[in-house]
Parts: sequence; C-alpha cells; structure tokens
Amino acid sequence: MHLLIPAAGSGRRMGSSRNKLLLDLLGKPLIAWTLLAAEASPTIEQIGIIGQAEDWKAFDAIATSLNLSKPVEFIQGGATRQESVYNGLQSLPRYTEHVLIHDGARCLATPDLFDRCADVLISCDGLIAAIPVKDTIKVVDAVGVIQHTPERSRLWAAQTPQGFSVPLLKKCHDQGKQNGWEVTDDAALFEQCGLAVHIVEGEETNLKVTTPVDLAIAEFILRQRLG
Ligand code: C5P
Repeated sequence: MHLLIPAAGSGRRMGSSRNKLLLDLLGKPLIAWTLLAAEASPTIEQIGIIGQAEDWKAFDAIATSLNLSKPVEFIQGGATRQESVYNGLQSLPRYTEHVLIHDGARCLATPDLFDRCADVLISCDGLIAAIPVKDTIKVVDAVGVIQHTPERSRLWAAQTPQGFSVPLLKKCHDQGKQNGWEVTDDAALFEQCGLAVHIVEGEETNLKVTTPVDLAIAEFILRQRLG
C-alpha cells in the first residue's frame, strides 16, 4: 500500500517561521515520528512525502537518519493541502489501486491504525479514521450567532489516515478543481461527488499538531508511550 504524507504546510498557527513538521518533539523532528509509525506498519510499502522544495533537503536528511527500509519519494507541495494531495496523486505509479493519505502533522497515529485502515480499504472505495466528538458542536452565522445544534451522537471528528480507490479519488479531485470546491480533507471531495466514505474507529491520541498546546500534549503522550 502506498502512503502519501501531506507535509507542505507552514508553521503559522504554531507561531513558527518554519514548517512545524521540522520542529523538535522529544529529540526528533515532528515528522520523524510520523515516518516511524509508517515504517512500523507492515501494510505500508512505499512512502511519498509531499513537501515544499525548500524543505526537501531537511526531510531527506530525516528519512536517511531513520534508516527506513521502505522507499521514500519527495513530491512538490501546493499552496493548499488539497493541491498538495492532488500533486501526490499524480505522482503515483499508473495502476496504483488504493492509497492511504496521512497528514504529516498527525505524528501520534499508531502503526495499528494504518493497518486497520488498509484492511478495510480492501473492501471499500473510501474511508477515514474518525472518533466520536466529545463536545457539543454549534453551527453559527457570519456574526457568531448560533444557527443550530446538530445531534452530537451523529457527529464524528475526521482524522487521517484516509484511504481511497486511486482512480475514483483522482476523478473527485479533478471535479473539485473544475468546480472550485475548497475542502480541508479528501473525504469531502468524495462526498461531494456522491461517493460513500466509511468510518474506521480512529484514536483519541491521534491529534493534529497545530498549535503550541498541541505540541505540549503530543510530547506528554509520547513520554507516556515510551515509558
Ligand atoms: O495546516 P494543517 O495542519 O491543517 O495541514 C494538515 C496537513 O496538510 C499538514 O501535515 C500539512 O503539512 C499539510 N499541508 C500540505 N500542503 C499545504 C498545507 C498543508 O501538505 N499547502
């Protein structure tokens, strides 16, 4: 199974001038933890890191230092995550059937989560890891007044990995481009094209490191894990 890792973001919400995936997390760059989980998952065979050209050297040095047994390829990132994944899809070998896409910033996903997603992907065309939301969610209007409160029992927080049939996801991305759809995950394109996306139970610790608080929480979780 191919794994694409969108890693072409910035450190803006982290308050950092460089890509947050290069920040230190317990003695390693953040993305190193993501790569180690992919390395430890028996179902992942190839890894594509989608990054900005200015970060390739650093990513290459990290991958080399980890002594990964799996082939790693670097792909040019885009201005948005959507564009980055689009580029990643174009880079896949022609007859690739399925792909897992996993945000570099979700550095705490376990190898088991990759394997469970890959298993389910054998029998469906689209899936995402997700967990039930704990908060009550409000939908608000442009001036911050609540419009309605969706029933919490039906709400799930989307994570990655997300897995898809490659030909179908490519079609959805093309359609998204043509219609100017702006989405923050690939499942949203699949949904807008009327295709089914299944839920695989994600992990509460699989947080997306976005702000300094997330980085501190990630460090705490990693320390607990490593004992
Ligand atoms: O910004 P955010 O944390 O939501 O990004 C999710 C993932 O998408 C991150 O791993 C980030 O590096 C990646 N990304 C990307 N290309 C962009 C923006 C974000 O690959 N232009």
